Amino acid sequence: MAHTEKPTALIMIFGATGDLANRKLFPSLYNLYAKGKLDKFAVVGVARRSLTNEEFQLRVKESVTEHGEAEANIDEFVSKFYYHSHDVTDSSSYIALGKLAEDLDGHYGLDGNRIFYLAMAPEFFGTIAEHLKKDNLTNVSGFKRLVIEKPFGHDLESAKVLNKQIRTAFSEDEIYRIDHYLGKEMVQNIEVIRFANAMFEPLWNNRYISNIQVTSSETLGVEERGRYYEKSGALRDMVQNHMLQMVSLLAMEPPIKLTTDEIRSEKVRVFRALRPITGEAVNDYFVRGQYGKGSMNEKVVPAYRQEEMVDPDSNTETFVAGKLMIDNFRWAGVPFYIRTGKRMKAKSTKIVIQFKDIPMDLYYKPEKTVNPNLLVIHIQPEEGITLHLNAKKSGQGTDATPVKLNYANKGIDGLNTPEAYEKLLYDSLRGDATNFTHWDEVALSWSFVDNISEVWENTKEPSFPNYESGSMGPDAADKLLEKDGFFWWPITEIDVENC
Ligand code: BG6
Repeated sequence: MAHTEKPTALIMIFGATGDLANRKLFPSLYNLYAKGKLDKFAVVGVARRSLTNEEFQLRVKESVTEHGEAEANIDEFVSKFYYHSHDVTDSSSYIALGKLAEDLDGHYGLDGNRIFYLAMAPEFFGTIAEHLKKDNLTNVSGFKRLVIEKPFGHDLESAKVLNKQIRTAFSEDEIYRIDHYLGKEMVQNIEVIRFANAMFEPLWNNRYISNIQVTSSETLGVEERGRYYEKSGALRDMVQNHMLQMVSLLAMEPPIKLTTDEIRSEKVRVFRALRPITGEAVNDYFVRGQYGKGSMNEKVVPAYRQEEMVDPDSNTETFVAGKLMIDNFRWAGVPFYIRTGKRMKAKSTKIVIQFKDIPMDLYYKPEKTVNPNLLVIHIQPEEGITLHLNAKKSGQGTDATPVKLNYANKGIDGLNTPEAYEKLLYDSLRGDATNFTHWDEVALSWSFVDNISEVWENTKEPSFPNYESGSMGPDAADKLLEKDGFFWWPITEIDVENC
């Protein structure tokens, strides 16, 4: 399907006074506007508290100034923002919103196109979708799309209920489920690296790859999200979505075309081939951790159990490491190791593809074997690719020494999340759902994760807290690889910058 490059739409943001709107959505919309990527548009901010349009516009302006780069056209940009004080359970509130939407549609000539962006507490997602239909907001002459933030349910059952509710008002191809990792530049690069290079794809299988490691570590703790996180933990917060999405992109077969449907169906096949880990096997394949106190940047930080809104005896994991097996022809026998956690040593997301050892090491020395080849994909904070090879050590003799070939993506300052939102917002406006998660992916990843959470929720982990803040997680995460004869490639020594 051809996508409009300069979309026109009325964008309704539910949760417009929240953190996500303030930090990511307003600055991203402004960037699109400043780049001339939006044609005719208007935004309605929807939230509970009462604000005038002017007060709301001022907030938007402040958000862009603080989190983006506001230029002279900022006043013109914010003049297209309107505010509606809303009660999510009250039909009359939706009817008033519908009236405002119609007026703006006529005033700005928006062709009856509507985006409903739900950037708020997930417990209201279903109710809102049902009201949008019932109170006639989805009855439009143009397109209607629902953009929905995570978490999409808490487990498979609740995700099914939610999906059913939103499907009353939107068809699957009108639903854009956000996984902001899919908007990251280097996550999007995985497919290009794999499918646009003759030298990788032939090696991308169990004959040449020994294991793949995906690490996403964070330095922040749970911050003010204790209430949510207590019920979520790292497994639901990071593994069910971001980590499994990266694995699916690494493992998928080449799609026959780069269309949304073809790419999604190849990803779905990876999820279907994921070996279910159940019952007693959970502890062989997965490790959970919870941070204790420790020192970060020379500052003492509290243990998870001492954080706000956290049970002092909490059994919630803030770290997960796991071994995934994809039981298909390409990947049989190749472990995909994943690990993610809060309060770790560094903020870093990296993928390491470790190739198998050469059949015979001509350069063997008792004290030193030749290093395996590695392809490292740096997702954040730096963005790039490093290929670890072996070359001759300069000078006399034939000793081999490791060398690195580097590609550093243009210097992007800091982390690339705002840019991810900008891309995803633009995609939703253009009608390109490729980098959003299809229901089948969501359902399969929940059923994989549910098996693990079921075991963990029913057995209290006596060793918690089992890793110090500022470390790389519990020892058991290292043992997970050691028992297969591998180790985690250190995420700091393979930085692009250090090469
Ligand atoms: C979110 C999680 O989805 O991703 C957060 O809810 C986590 O707990 C965040 O901190 C990490 O995203 P990023 O882009 O900073 O790696």
